Amino acid sequence: MVLGVPDNAECLNSSGTETVTYQSDRPVSVAEGRSVPYLELRHVSRSFGSNHVLEDVNFKVMSGQTVCILGRSGVGKSVCLRILMGFLKPDAGRVIAAGEDTTDYSEEELRRIRQKVTMVFQNGALFDSLTVWDNVAFPLRERGALDEERISPVVDELLEMVGAKHIGGLLPSQISTGMKRSVAIARALAAKPKAVLFDEPTTMVDPLMARRLGALIEKLKLQLKLTSVVVTHDMRLAEKLADHVVFLDRGKVIFCGTPAEMNRSRERIVQQFLQLDRLDLRALVGTIDHPHRMLG
Ligand SMILES: Nc1ncnc2c1ncn2[C@@H]1O[C@H](COP(=O)(O)OP(=O)(O)O)[C@@H](O)[C@H]1O
Ligand SMILES: [Mg+2]
Repeated sequence: MVLGVPDNAECLNSSGTETVTYQSDRPVSVAEGRSVPYLELRHVSRSFGSNHVLEDVNFKVMSGQTVCILGRSGVGKSVCLRILMGFLKPDAGRVIAAGEDTTDYSEEELRRIRQKVTMVFQNGALFDSLTVWDNVAFPLRERGALDEERISPVVDELLEMVGAKHIGGLLPSQISTGMKRSVAIARALAAKPKAVLFDEPTTMVDPLMARRLGALIEKLKLQLKLTSVVVTHDMRLAEKLADHVVFLDRGKVIFCGTPAEMNRSRERIVQQFLQLDRLDLRALVGTIDHPHRMLG
């Protein structure tokens, strides 16, 4: 329970004057009526040449919470994740990951952070030449902390958790996009992270698989108390998972709040997203009730 923190605490006020000291492994403090964010972008800007992708972007994710980042294609959602992971440096602003200011961290320091904060890429980024089982075992073997006898039950359990135990012997090329994502999630969890960043987990999969992946991410949040950031343009997924939604448009956070607040938002882009989603839903319900409409 976070005491005395308003609902929209994940959105930094515009003055950004709040001062919080970040220390590694410091317990979340509520003594001063606020807690330390686990992940945060603070006044972050990033350009590629003349393409000003992010301009003074602020949001934070508290421990155990899920924040969904929404916005049009090309708006900078993946760039936000890559900045949080330290794969990209911001031109200005500060980056907090695992409760530490990682902005100026070296590769070596970032590797330590990436044991706690990991990312599931849109394409899964599995090793093509390894079976599903060996892909999930990879982070465990790489670390060298466990012998093969101990690795085996951990891998089995992870595959079971994501509903992929039956495909352990297959190669990534032999399984569907949705299953690749599930396996990528299992592999990410093998490193026992505290936070996982998901890049469009339900894009390019069928609606049933999308729902399964959404349920899986929700399960991880509830059972493992994972902190997560989910980049998506799937409004239903955001409504299901998000404690807070961050809406990006033209380089800025144009909305930040709970899904309920998002539904009431008067921002034009947010409204457009919501309306499109309702149309989608109506079309879908229509085809279920009246399958012949699919042909019309
Ligand atoms: N490494 C890069 N070099 C140049 N431009 C990039 C790079 N990464 C991203 N961009 C640009 O930044 C913008 C945002 O990209 P991205 O974050 O991938 O969008 P999305 O919101 O769809 O995830 C795009 O215009 C993209 O072309
Ligand atoms: Mg992207």
